Amino acid sequence: MIAIGIETSCDETAIGVIDDGKVLANIVSSQIAHTKFGGVVPEIAARNHVKVLVPLTKAALEVANRKLTDIDLICVTRGPGLVGALLVGLSFAKSLAIALNKPLMGVNHLEGHIHALQLRSELPSYPYLVLLVSGGHTEVVLVEQAFSYHTIGRTLDDACGEAFDKVAKLLGLPYPGGPYIEKHAREGRQGAIAFPVPQPKRFSFSYAGLKTAVLYYTRDNPGYSVNDVAANFQEAALEHLVQVVTRVLHKTRVRHLGLVGGVSVNKRLREKFGILATQKNIALLIPEMQYCTDNGVMIARAGLERFKKFGPSELSIDAVSREPLDNIA
Ligand code: KG4
Ligand code: ZN
Repeated sequence: MIAIGIETSCDETAIGVIDDGKVLANIVSSQIAHTKFGGVVPEIAARNHVKVLVPLTKAALEVANRKLTDIDLICVTRGPGLVGALLVGLSFAKSLAIALNKPLMGVNHLEGHIHALQLRSELPSYPYLVLLVSGGHTEVVLVEQAFSYHTIGRTLDDACGEAFDKVAKLLGLPYPGGPYIEKHAREGRQGAIAFPVPQPKRFSFSYAGLKTAVLYYTRDNPGYSVNDVAANFQEAALEHLVQVVTRVLHKTRVRHLGLVGGVSVNKRLREKFGILATQKNIALLIPEMQYCTDNGVMIARAGLERFKKFGPSELSIDAVSREPLDNIA
């Protein structure tokens, strides 16, 4: 069965084409227009999706070596995300569904990220734990069985990737800041600055305090080293993730831990969780880099599996800015 996945929840326009378990195309267009604003401007994001969706879909079909009429299922992100941006993808997907007379499948973006784990050769076995770390979300989720999620903890304020982006902006680095922080951190002296590892209660995450600590440090030390700030911010931010997941692992019996979302690209994060997994004797599963960040393949994969189990969505489905994994409509 050939499924197309359309992703427009934020500033990436992405199209994926799969044939059951096989990836035929993965095309992502990142919007650089936001760089000069240091963050995503919702209206610019929506307008850019309008511009590039059609050519991107044509390009994806070309790469996949398939015609529009070969598509059996149209999968599209319906939320959570920026509503204006989501509506562009959703309207495009509905038009395709009507024109081709093919079923439509609305997909939760977070469920998409989790399904990136299904694109690996080693599949997670239920129940498994997932740490979802992106620009919009930081949560630890127990996947009890297919389509059954229990969110154990989430951020009380900023998402982890959002903190990377905000600290990068503070340091005068481009948007999105995560990759720049990682690069500068490699040259920084670990331990040169004592940023506190956040300590919210139990299984919650919090990045507001750490972000403020960086703000005060840079304000009070005008001659600061970008590399040192990046290295010590990154270490505190990632150590926080490790500490929370360690607490969760004390309470939950799982054999697999998955890392998904844009921040899971980070090599230091992979290294730290690699150590934790060895200590706990569990397998660490991380999607290929291209499926960690936003993409259409993960949406096609999640949509296809949902379709096989529950059937198609109504053509009247709407975009949603929020939709926790525990109660997907
Ligand atoms: O999953 P994603 O592409 O989009 C969302 O759903 O948010 O994640 C994007 C986030 C951004 O905040 C970006 O700065 C962060 O992932 N990111 C990184 C790295 N690469 C991307 N954070 C830390 N280190 C990286 N290498
Ligand atoms: Zn995402």
